[in-house]
Amino acid sequence: VGVDDACGAADKGGFPHFMLKEIHEQPSVSAVIQHRYAVEALIAESIDVDFRHVDRLRLIACGTSYYACMVAKRWFAEVAGIAADVELGSEYRYAPDITNPPREFAVLVSQSGETADTLASLEKLKSQRIGTLGIVNQQVSTLAREADYFLPLLAGPEIGVASTKAFTAQLMVLAHLAAHMAEQRGYRLAATRFRSALAKVPKLLSAVLHNEAAIIAVAERFSQATSALFVGRGALYPLALEGALKMKEISYIHAEGYAAGELKHGPIALVDENTPVVALAPSGELFAKVASNIREIAARNGRITILGDRRAILAMSDVASHALTMPITDELIQPIVAAIPLQFLAYHVAVSRGYDVDRPRNLAKSVTVE
Ligand code: AGP
Repeated sequence: VGVDDACGAADKGGFPHFMLKEIHEQPSVSAVIQHRYAVEALIAESIDVDFRHVDRLRLIACGTSYYACMVAKRWFAEVAGIAADVELGSEYRYAPDITNPPREFAVLVSQSGETADTLASLEKLKSQRIGTLGIVNQQVSTLAREADYFLPLLAGPEIGVASTKAFTAQLMVLAHLAAHMAEQRGYRLAATRFRSALAKVPKLLSAVLHNEAAIIAVAERFSQATSALFVGRGALYPLALEGALKMKEISYIHAEGYAAGELKHGPIALVDENTPVVALAPSGELFAKVASNIREIAARNGRITILGDRRAILAMSDVASHALTMPITDELIQPIVAAIPLQFLAYHVAVSRGYDVDRPRNLAKSVTVE
């Protein structure tokens, strides 16, 4: 079976939209990355870099791909013990050159491989003589060709303008890159633990796909909304940003993602009884902190939907009127599993509003202008 068959040739396969089909392809994509593609074998044979001699990573991308880099920053630190700076492609290209930079290595992430801002940053990195790895879905693309090293996502064609399966595929490839680096840098136990958590991802993504019907009910409460807040903490803060971006780009609701701990420094002034708030709060080390942030929102009559596992949903049932359920998972992989409920929510809100989900207004699948 060819990769395209496993990960979706360019037809809707009976789904009403490419985006919905691509949301449903994510379990098979993550399985292809881990098993058939054996991403770590590919990393070992194609990236001849000794990461013991790299002091700092620079992760560069735009949009949803940038949020994947924000998630990966924590994995590189917690699993591989290496610091990473995350940069917007449109900003890094203007960053000042540092005279004696630390021994750096750059990872550029892009579904299309043609995003002009990311490519401009690639040119800057080359001028700084920093090694570059491109993680790209479109294998025939400028980034795949021009970076020093290249890793394919093998997610198959992603037709919907709103990125879904490419996002979780980016997370899977970045995660295995972190495990590879951890192994190389002597953090074998951390690498093994992370790999065993990652091995569960295909099944967990399948499980969360089954919650689609319940999410349609939650989407109803957004259909008249003009604004919305998505809040998360730690590894789920980038997912709050991604959930808000999905909502913005296909349902045209002014949705903002915030770090849950940051709300009290001003944004909570936005909260009233007309503001739907999605709080990403699965069980884990930060749950108590996020729970208190959520209670602050409830005290201002915010309309709260919690994204979490059953235990977390039960604990917040006195303040959250709706829930997006996800399975209880290892905290390291919560960002991957949390993506699907957010994708479903944005999709069903956009459909309820009658918008063109696959070709949203003003947007292009690949932003080749600067
Ligand atoms: C994601 O849903 C958007 N379509 C957009 O933010 C996209 O992620 C961004 O333009 C980067 O595209 P790339 O991954 O092809 O570089």
